[in-house]
Amino acid sequence: MALCASSQKLFLASSAASGRARARHGGRASANGRRDLAVHVRMAAPDQVAIAYEEGNLEMPKWAGETPLSRLVKVLVSFKPLYSLLKLGARQVLISTAEKNNIPWREMSREILESDVYKELHSIENPSLQYPDYYLSPFHAYDEGNLSWLAAAEAEVATMSVARRAMPHASSIEEATKELRGNWLQVIEQHHMKHSGSTIENILDIGCSVGVSTRFLADKFPSAKVIGLDLSPYFLSVAQFKEKKRAPRENPIRWIHAAGEDTGLPSKSFDLVSFAYVFHECPERAIIALVTEAFRLLRPGGTIVLTDQSPKSKILQELSPALFTLLKSTEPFLNEYYLTDLEGRLREVGFVNIQTVLTDPRHMTMTATVPHQRV
Ligand SMILES: C[S@@+](CC[C@H](N)C(=O)[O-])C[C@H]1O[C@@H](n2cnc3c(N)ncnc32)[C@H](O)[C@@H]1O
Repeated sequence: MALCASSQKLFLASSAASGRARARHGGRASANGRRDLAVHVRMAAPDQVAIAYEEGNLEMPKWAGETPLSRLVKVLVSFKPLYSLLKLGARQVLISTAEKNNIPWREMSREILESDVYKELHSIENPSLQYPDYYLSPFHAYDEGNLSWLAAAEAEVATMSVARRAMPHASSIEEATKELRGNWLQVIEQHHMKHSGSTIENILDIGCSVGVSTRFLADKFPSAKVIGLDLSPYFLSVAQFKEKKRAPRENPIRWIHAAGEDTGLPSKSFDLVSFAYVFHECPERAIIALVTEAFRLLRPGGTIVLTDQSPKSKILQELSPALFTLLKSTEPFLNEYYLTDLEGRLREVGFVNIQTVLTDPRHMTMTATVPHQRV
């Protein structure tokens, strides 16, 4: 089924989520968009309907790429005294916005920092790991980037804030998270069923952070063996600590401290390799190395899935100057991410059946297959 309709992208989702999305977007859609939407609704299975998230008119926001506005923001952000102020501002905005949205940022992170999470580090950390140079940049207003306990303690609340911002119509943070992750999982399942011909038995979640995406994958595919892999031993410690607190799984998640570009895992050993919200933190050369490694790791017919900010998102294209300046001040590779032709990079590495869908108002999910006839 074609998934694309004029200025909107459509995909099939559970009727509860899509009812709200249609109510929200129906009035703004073009006449043509509405006609296409109706067609998709009729074509869907009984428990599914088509939902639409709106694209802007541009290929990417004016604050990204090589535009004068983007260059101006880059100059501002690279001015050290201003960068320090922006960094502080960004952090304050993040925390206060989260707490205004009933996300208990300080309480949840304090709970982790005051726990026994530190004991996990010795069983997780690979002391001989060489970090890629780009990974040692300050990220997200943390001077040590992802390599700190504070960043690890705040990672899950930051993830909740991402879901809340992406799904402002949702009635609660739980609903926002469920919808955002549910749409992503549904695209994965549909793509794999359509193109692979096999079940999903082995999953690798590269850039798993504190394990939120990994847990969603493990819950969705309970019979699969799931690995979460990340460069931050602090994030992985939180992931392992949290997982130990829940009821044991039939297939326990394995956590690996390694670089996604060079995992050391056997070739052709996974049916699904996922990158959730990883690429906007990477320079293009890392993105190419990561998708090349994913191609090596996947079995013929296997699926790669990446989800991240969509350059075509109407909301991101219309972000206020204050917000995009703050955003760019804490994301050193954001511009490079926006300039990277992700579909083109996947094609060059050898992937086929490449498909990109807006799975919420801010993020796209891209899926592709390793050809069955690969040697
Ligand atoms: C925004 S977080 C991912 C969030 C998580 N996947 C989720 O959906 O909740 C990005 C993660 O990518 C990891 N990362 C960045 N570059 C990486 C690389 N080359 N190899 C492995 N992990 C990497 C970071 O350490 C960080 O934990």
